[in-house]
Amino acid sequence: MGLWQLTALSIGATLGTGIFVILGEAAPLAGPAVVLSFVLAAVTALFSALSYAELAGTIPVSGSSYSYVYATMGEVAAWVCGWCLLLEYGVSVSAVAVGWGAYIDDLARATVGTTLPEALSGPPGDGGVFNVPAVVVVLLAMALLLRGTQESARVNTAVVVLKVAVLVFFCAVAFTAFRAGNLAPFAPLGAAGVTAAASQVFFSYIGFDAASTAGEEARDPRRDLPRAILISLVVVTAVYCLVALAALGAVPWRQLDGSEAALADVLRSAVGSTWPAVLLSVGAVVAIASVVFTVYYGQTRILFAMSRDGLVPRVFSRVSGRQRVPVANVVITGAVVAVLAGVVPLGELANATSIGTLFAFALVNVGVLLLRRSRPDLPRTFRTPLFPVTPLLGVALCVLLMVGLHGTTWVVFAAWMLLGLALYALYGRRRSALARQP
Ligand code: ALA
Repeated sequence: MGLWQLTALSIGATLGTGIFVILGEAAPLAGPAVVLSFVLAAVTALFSALSYAELAGTIPVSGSSYSYVYATMGEVAAWVCGWCLLLEYGVSVSAVAVGWGAYIDDLARATVGTTLPEALSGPPGDGGVFNVPAVVVVLLAMALLLRGTQESARVNTAVVVLKVAVLVFFCAVAFTAFRAGNLAPFAPLGAAGVTAAASQVFFSYIGFDAASTAGEEARDPRRDLPRAILISLVVVTAVYCLVALAALGAVPWRQLDGSEAALADVLRSAVGSTWPAVLLSVGAVVAIASVVFTVYYGQTRILFAMSRDGLVPRVFSRVSGRQRVPVANVVITGAVVAVLAGVVPLGELANATSIGTLFAFALVNVGVLLLRRSRPDLPRTFRTPLFPVTPLLGVALCVLLMVGLHGTTWVVFAAWMLLGLALYALYGRRRSALARQP
């Protein structure tokens, strides 16, 4: 993979449920100032992206932050990081899949005038029993992954172009209904609202580091990985801020409260006809499906790397067939992700994803600080500017956004960590490649 394919991989993994759906959950927390929340979340992501870029250019392997932390802080920290990455990638596939379901629902309502019964389109506790559309998209992605990946990189590049086009189309239509009055007062819920919404929309940036899970497939990883990560973050931030501004300028912000297919709802109420919303929903369905695929793919690679290091069972790195597909890895990951997508509400999944990711990002920032001290001699194709201020600010912003997430998410996170440490003590510690070294 060259620079553009790597960039497309990152953008492909990023533009999805966050902007198409979660914008609707975040806007009521901050009002029009949710645009600033996107900026705050982007800055948080940027500091960590710089750290990723430095480490990706120094340690060009496939396991993303897990491998970087392994190289800089050793096995226990790497396990903790890998365990968080299961939230960043695995659980986010479930979250993204639920967002896909929201747009399928919207599309069905707008075109054939009917939707699945509520019991089959939502999780328990949200009026439903099982979210069938969310499970369907995970199974589709599983089928693609089992066929091998060559073709998927090409398809991904095409889909990325399509999804940027869909969001540009959204902006073009929504800006025709722009009313400055909708943006006033700009920050009705103050700075606290902006931070709280930033914690929610942080989810929409997750994935910009996906190129770092493909280090071993890159043609020139030392040069291209850092660039791909930074370019994708800049593109995504610009798109998000424009989309948020267009949406909040087109409708009064309170109207977004409770809206699931948020961008389609904005178009419906902003313009007289229904076709722009239908077109947008079709685009969203394709766009979000590609995120499900790409992030799922990233998850299987991380598990592959962890398995190679002996931290998770060998079966996760066993490949078969001419395409060398890690079949068991793909099937087990898909099964867990599908069940979560079927029974847990989007907000919970997205927030669990965010807290795990923020923690892993904090570790990556610490990794940069440590590696500069312990191995100043290593060749670095990219150096974080203003060291050590940038990685230190990176850690601080990650903590700020973690604090902005509510209590349930913290309880889930604490339980997840305890489970992870217990598994490490019982399994990874003894089985790891490190433990087996003479
Ligand atoms: N950033 C990805 C999304 O928004 C996870 O769908």
